[in-house]
Amino acid sequence: MSSFEWNKIIGAALVALLAIKTFDIVGNAAVSPHKLEQNVYVVEGVEAAAPTGAAAPAVKEIEPVGPLLAAANIEAGKKAAAKCATCHSFEKGGANKVGPNLWGIVGAPHAHIDGFAYSSPMKAKSAEPWDYEDINHFIASPRTYLPGTKRSFAGVARTSERADIIAYLRSLSDNPAPLP
Ligand code: HEC
Repeated sequence: MSSFEWNKIIGAALVALLAIKTFDIVGNAAVSPHKLEQNVYVVEGVEAAAPTGAAAPAVKEIEPVGPLLAAANIEAGKKAAAKCATCHSFEKGGANKVGPNLWGIVGAPHAHIDGFAYSSPMKAKSAEPWDYEDINHFIASPRTYLPGTKRSFAGVARTSERADIIAYLRSLSDNPAPLP
């Protein structure tokens, strides 16, 4: 065999090796394998495993606003309620927007405005009045309080802010409900 022939054979072998290595790299990149974070076989007693039956992370507890209301700041609540005003009017007899007018909401029944197109779960509660903690829960997490609500609003996370807003809502009445 001439040396030219050998060159071709060696060349072909190198190309093949290169191709294999390329597939290896490309393949790894495509499936991005990662190392196991934990041994697959956990030997009892050797590794501190998570306690069996540990509860799933609890839904964050919604703190009550009742104890904060007496000292809540109505002016701060009015400012914070600016973020509600895209969807709600607050003045007596104000127009409904995406959401209903909120004058007199504390103590009023759920779905308190006749003729507003409430969601069915809201209408289903129309025999129940809105007390402070109902509003607190609804403002904190609308979908937890009322699954299926039409209200596409993330909620107000800070308890003191909710207390201020609720104190403001309470003030929107000719005859504000007594404090809890
Ligand atoms: C993106 C629009 C939107 C925003 C922002 C919004 N809401 Fe609402 N809200 C709605 C809708 C829509 C409903 C009716 C929900 C239903 O029928 O399920 C509603 C209902 C309510 C109700 C019950 C009214 C009733 O008649 O029973 C209260 C109380 C309320 N909202 C308070 C607030 C407060 C306080 C804020 C601000 C922190 C706020 N909302 C922000 C759209 C909104």
